[in-house]
Order: sequence, then structure tokens, then C-alpha cells
Amino acid sequence: MDLELTGNAALVTASSSGLGLASARALAEEGANVTICGRSADRLESARAELDGAAGEVLAVRADVTDPDDVSRLVTETVDAFGGLDHLVTSAGGPPSATFIETDDRDWYRAYDTLVMSVVWAIEESRPHLLESPSGTITCITSRTVREAADGLLLSNAVRRGVTGLIQTISREFAPEIRANAVLPGTIETPRIEELVEARIESGVYDDYRDGLEDLASEIPMERIGEPRELGEVVAFLSSPHSSYVNGAELAIDGGLMRN
Ligand SMILES: NC(=O)c1ccc[n+]([C@@H]2O[C@H](COP(=O)([O-])OP(=O)(O)OC[C@H]3O[C@@H](n4cnc5c(N)ncnc54)[C@H](OP(=O)(O)O)[C@@H]3O)[C@@H](O)[C@H]2O)c1
Repeated sequence: MDLELTGNAALVTASSSGLGLASARALAEEGANVTICGRSADRLESARAELDGAAGEVLAVRADVTDPDDVSRLVTETVDAFGGLDHLVTSAGGPPSATFIETDDRDWYRAYDTLVMSVVWAIEESRPHLLESPSGTITCITSRTVREAADGLLLSNAVRRGVTGLIQTISREFAPEIRANAVLPGTIETPRIEELVEARIESGVYDDYRDGLEDLASEIPMERIGEPRELGEVVAFLSSPHSSYVNGAELAIDGGLMRN
């Protein structure tokens, strides 16, 4: 299916790796011109190189999404390069795993800036440009933890719900000009999940990487964890006119793990 994204302009935040990169790839393969960003110049350059040959152009901008000036520059450079902005996709670095008693006030504020304010700033800066697009969309990558708290992931469980509250609200405020949706990944094999499994191997929870993946997959009806492409393609669909009546949705991409 042609998603009719050719020539559209997209900005994907926190996208030099993992789910952000997979979303940028799916959009660029559909012919959208895409800006990717991240803090590490090396990681950003390898991500840009990976996207070489996609149908759309790719602009790589070094930026920290917890800095509002960087977010503003990211949007400006995208609009300057591609002549507008049609699709905003937000991702962010994951907060550290911690229990309540291990978490102090600074951790709470840092998680809030990373997970919520980065999205608020990106929307504030993008909105005037999305309004000029005939098909403006906002898609936020959050987590299944907005529906089911995961043990030891206090900050993700608590703070990410601000993003789904935001999406529910703006999907009504910004419609019909701009559609806004959220995707809720379950367990998808990205560097973040690889690090998590490696840490559990070091602490003796798993024997090896394969053992870790099997354990993570054990409760998933699809009997495996997801591939980044499987999330990226949903993000491209939600950005496309083929999802033109999908607005305010919170779509789990978790192989059926959650029951609600
Ligand atoms: N993978 C999963 O199964 C899963 C499940 C549920 C939720 N999530 C959530 O989805 C998000 C993405 O996860 P992922 O698996 O794609 O992680 P990942 O593979 O570690 O990628 C994170 C990306 O974000 C960039 N980034 C991190 N902090 C940034 C910042 N302050 N400014 C700009 N870029 C930043 C990283 O590059 P730099 O470090 O170079 O900046 C990297 O490109 C996270 O919030 C994660 O918790 C993931």
C-alpha cells in the first residue's frame, strides 16, 4: 500500500536509535523527508548513514530534547530544509529503572522534562507549521506502562501518563486540522532492551541473551518480542491519510500482552 507520504515533511525526535529511528525509517521509505535527532554525534551519523537510499531525504540535527532552545532549532531547521512540517513524531530517552524509595526529587523533575516537557515543547514549536499542512499529525511514542504499571519502573509508570493526558486533550483541541495519537510499545528489541537484558545477565538473572529474550517473550501471546520495524510502520500509518479518521487513539503495539 502506498501511504501517500511522498514529499511530506516529518520530524522525529530522539531518533538516532531504536523506536524513533525505526519510525524515521518507515516514513523515509514511504518518501517523506525526515529530520532525525539525538545527542551523540556518532550515533546520529550512523543513523543517518543507515537511512541512505530511502526514498525521502534525511536531515540529521544534533539536539537534546530536554533543552527547549534545541527543540525550537530542530523545528526551524526542519521547516527551512523541507519547506514546512506535516508530521511530528515524538520519542525520548527512557527514564532509569527505580523504585519509589530509590527516587529523589531531582529524578522526578528530570523524568518530567525528558518525557513530558520535551513533547510539550515539540508540539508548541510545531503547531503553527502543522496548521499550515493539509494533513498535520502528531504521534507520540510512549509505553504500555501508561496502562499497566511495570515493577521497578516508577518514573515511566507515573510520568508518562502526562503524555497520554496531553494527547487525549489536544486530539480534541487541535481537530480537525491536526490529528494526535499515541503508540504504546510493549517489549521491542532496541538497544534499550539489549542493555536491560545485558544488565540482567550481569546480575545473574539470565544465563545469556537468548535466555533473556525467551523470558521477556514468555507472557506475550505472539510468543516473541517485537521488531522496531513493527512499531515504525504503525507510526507511518498513523501519519498518513490512510488513518484519516484515527484521532486521540492510544494504540498498544505489544503482541497482545495487555488485556485492555
Ligand atoms: N524498546 C521498548 O521495548 C520500549 C518499550 C516501552 C517504552 N519504550 C520507550 O520508548 C522510548 C524509546 O526507546 P528505545 O527502545 O527506542 O530506546 P533507544 O534505542 O535507547 O533509543 C533512544 C534514542 O533517543 C535518543 N535520546 C535519548 N535521550 C535524548 C535526549 N535527551 N535528546 C535527544 N535524543 C535523545 C538516543 O540518542 P542519544 O542518547 O545519542 O541522545 C537514541 O537515539 C524510550 O522512552 C523507552 O523507554 C521502549
